Amino acid sequence: MTFSVYIDNHKIDVSPNTSILQACEIAGVVIPRFCYHERLSVAGNCRMCLVEVDKMPKLQASCAVPVSPNMFIRTNTPSVKKAREGVLEFLLINHPLDCPICDQGGECDLQDQSLIYGGDRSRFKEFKRATEDKNCGPLIKTIMTRCIHCTRCVRFANEVVGVPEFGTSGRGNFIEISTYIEKLFTSELSGNVIDLCPVGALTSKPYAFLSRPWELKSTESIDLFDSIHSNIRIDARGYDTVRILPRLNESINEEWISDKARFAFDGFLTQRLASPLLKDQEGNFKPVSWSKAISVFLEKMTSVTQANKIAFSVGDFCDLESLANVYCLRSTTNGFILNNFCENYLDTDSSTSYKFNTSLLGISKTDVCVLVGINPKTDGVLLNYHLRKRFLSGNFKLAYIGSHLNLTFPSVHLGNSFQTFFSLLEGKNHFCKSLKQSKNPTIIIGKSFLKQMSSYNFNIFANILKLNTNIVSSSWNGLNFFNLKSSDFSFCDLTLNRNRGLPPASFSFDILYNIENSNNISNSIKSKFTIFQGHHGCLNAQNADLILPSTSFMEKTSIYGNCEGRYQTSQSCTLPLGNAKNTLDILLIIINAYLRFSNKGSLDVNYLKTLLPSYEFLLNKVSVSYFNLPFFSNTIIFVNNSYISSSFFDNFYKTDVISKASLNMSKSSKLLLDRSPFKI
Ligand code: SF4
Ligand code: FES
Repeated sequence: MTFSVYIDNHKIDVSPNTSILQACEIAGVVIPRFCYHERLSVAGNCRMCLVEVDKMPKLQASCAVPVSPNMFIRTNTPSVKKAREGVLEFLLINHPLDCPICDQGGECDLQDQSLIYGGDRSRFKEFKRATEDKNCGPLIKTIMTRCIHCTRCVRFANEVVGVPEFGTSGRGNFIEISTYIEKLFTSELSGNVIDLCPVGALTSKPYAFLSRPWELKSTESIDLFDSIHSNIRIDARGYDTVRILPRLNESINEEWISDKARFAFDGFLTQRLASPLLKDQEGNFKPVSWSKAISVFLEKMTSVTQANKIAFSVGDFCDLESLANVYCLRSTTNGFILNNFCENYLDTDSSTSYKFNTSLLGISKTDVCVLVGINPKTDGVLLNYHLRKRFLSGNFKLAYIGSHLNLTFPSVHLGNSFQTFFSLLEGKNHFCKSLKQSKNPTIIIGKSFLKQMSSYNFNIFANILKLNTNIVSSSWNGLNFFNLKSSDFSFCDLTLNRNRGLPPASFSFDILYNIENSNNISNSIKSKFTIFQGHHGCLNAQNADLILPSTSFMEKTSIYGNCEGRYQTSQSCTLPLGNAKNTLDILLIIINAYLRFSNKGSLDVNYLKTLLPSYEFLLNKVSVSYFNLPFFSNTIIFVNNSYISSSFFDNFYKTDVISKASLNMSKSSKLLLDRSPFKI
């Protein structure tokens, strides 16, 4: 149902419960505002959005008043202008005139509104009020004299994050925003208050005094520190990345990003590998040219004649095209892929077995959720945000199996053993009643759960759950697998976990080609010659015989699939560091040279097509449903350990080679985790 309202004599149709401010936005009329934000509750305390409404004696705060049929609203009368000028004059009474040294300068709402409604001189002769700055940790800088008490930060902390550490104290002229009892702002989403604050009261510490907004070049890209792939904007000054901001994507991250996505960018410049290095007889690395490095590599590769004697290992940040080329190289060299242990058990025939089937947006439709071996606060911060948002809309139950969690919404701890999980599968757990009664129940399985198993088939769970709960039906798929790393989905999509034949006895290879895998490789894997291709120094690089420096995801344009199976493109925002080359280019050079040396064919698109899984195959995988799968009633699940841990990572701030090299993340890790009562 809609009805008509008139804004500055223009008629528009709006639905009930629309505020006057929203109606004005629909009509294309911009209303100035400080406290109103579309994703937060309405506070109505700044009074900047005043408008005139017929038959109402006083001006109305447009953000807080709903429209009614045939309402006449005027937004540009002399009284509206005078009121806004008055509000602004009041706000500027205590606001310092320090725009030249304020990091918000150039993108400050107060500065913009002062240009329209501000006076050219002050009538205020008294001293301005002084307020002590607060310690909000190593990421957020506070200059509280600039605060205009819009309470956006307070509402964000209470509503979005669920960490009620920001609040107001005092009244009138003595009102202050503070973290209660000087507690640090400990959420993994805390950096978003910087974007929310309309003035320079809360700004980014790492960005302090680095640049002005008009000096920056912006690149639209995606964040790859987790498998959610939040949309981001990378701002660079010259070749230096100075800040990362969220980019609106309603289906993934809305307008929030995690602190790691926002602040770990300094890790891209430290511990970098900038030139090819070859280990000499004494075990010392010596810089060599690219042609020398490639010729050494090829000499070793072409000397291997037996199948499964060349091992490949791929890492967290490998993009789709690089993985496709690893697939081709594995096929041409008869090599063996050393999988991440979790992918070994995944059935990669159907993408439903290794993706987040419900989708992040679909979480809003679920009413009961069970987390198994996953901590959404560390494994996928935006997943935690979507679950909390669902909790806030009401009628939602969440339970988890795994070690104890400190979530930002109420939850039921079912237990931490496989017995609990099996009782849930078989419909014997007390929580099964809720699952059975639920219209759209959801189970989210994390990698901490899978790492405890020595054999695994997702379809078994799907089939058993199908019998005992409503998890999977013809119209709903609530069985989800949550990938941890950026490359996990593409790895499974390309069926890279399937090797032809068995590995050599005692995992002894002639060559180990490690492509951007900085996770520790098991001591049981032996190789006569190891090549490490990557962007950051790590233990694997140290143990290699040859190092090929590659570009990080900030320096290349590549395609990545997220946990929901959504493919997006990351954009290059700066030049490769030193002598580093794009991962894909290195792989293409090697395949090309290998094919030429071994007379196995030539590198053209048709040849590559014969090696890769077909496009139709990938497409069909997406449409497979559990109802078409055979019932694996007699498959046995082997369990390594009866204990299920919730967290795969010990420390949210240091999960990969880039965040481990980041000074910002080290400071956060030290200060926030050590001193936080919410220690994970
Ligand atoms: S610190 Fe910023 S966001 Fe918070 S109340 Fe003050 S002006 Fe508003
Ligand atoms: S925006 Fe309406 S009162 Fe602040």
